[in-house]
Amino acid sequence: MPKIVGIAGSLRKASFNGWLLRAAKELAPAGTEIDVASISGIPLYDADVESGSGIPDAVTALKERIKAADGLLIVTPEYNHSIPGVVKNAIDWLSRPPKDIPSVFGDKPVAIVGATPGAGGTRLSQAAWLPILRTLGTRPWFGKQLYVASAGQAFDAEGKLVDEKVKKLLSDLLAGFTAFVSS
Ligand code: FNR
Repeated sequence: MPKIVGIAGSLRKASFNGWLLRAAKELAPAGTEIDVASISGIPLYDADVESGSGIPDAVTALKERIKAADGLLIVTPEYNHSIPGVVKNAIDWLSRPPKDIPSVFGDKPVAIVGATPGAGGTRLSQAAWLPILRTLGTRPWFGKQLYVASAGQAFDAEGKLVDEKVKKLLSDLLAGFTAFVSS
């Protein structure tokens, strides 16, 4: 049974991207498990902390969950046409020490989606992820794209994905990514 670990790049409780990840868990094809992980609890990267007390527990735990998964689904917000600092910070910690990069990220299938109340659907943020995925040696999947714009209309007040068009796009994307992960 393929297992995909999902990370939403936002800390807020009512995050559109957190809601999109939750919807992905519900819409995953039968037999595919989406493990909803979180970047909360990861401190700001500080090389003095790393050399003094090592890798924080929250980082080690997330590294293990990524290692254990067949694929990684990144659900990214967009800040100032790029990647929010909190999620870049998490990735930077996850890439430490460099000797662990191949076992955590090497050849790992990765798909990216994102949601924003704005009109651009996180296109620029998703593009900004590409050099990161490359340098970590991942195996990005570009079979389908999902840019959720006007996210306030796509979800109801409880955070349930209600836009049928987005649901179909997300289901199709997850089916394609699952096939890629399993190949
Ligand atoms: C934003 N937002 C935003 N949206 C967008 O589509 N393009 C952008 O460049 C930006 N820039 C930006 C900068 C900063 C500092 C903030 C705080 C916000 C809006 C952003 O998409 C919105 O806050 C989302 O709700 C963030 O995602 P979550 O937390 O809902 O998952």
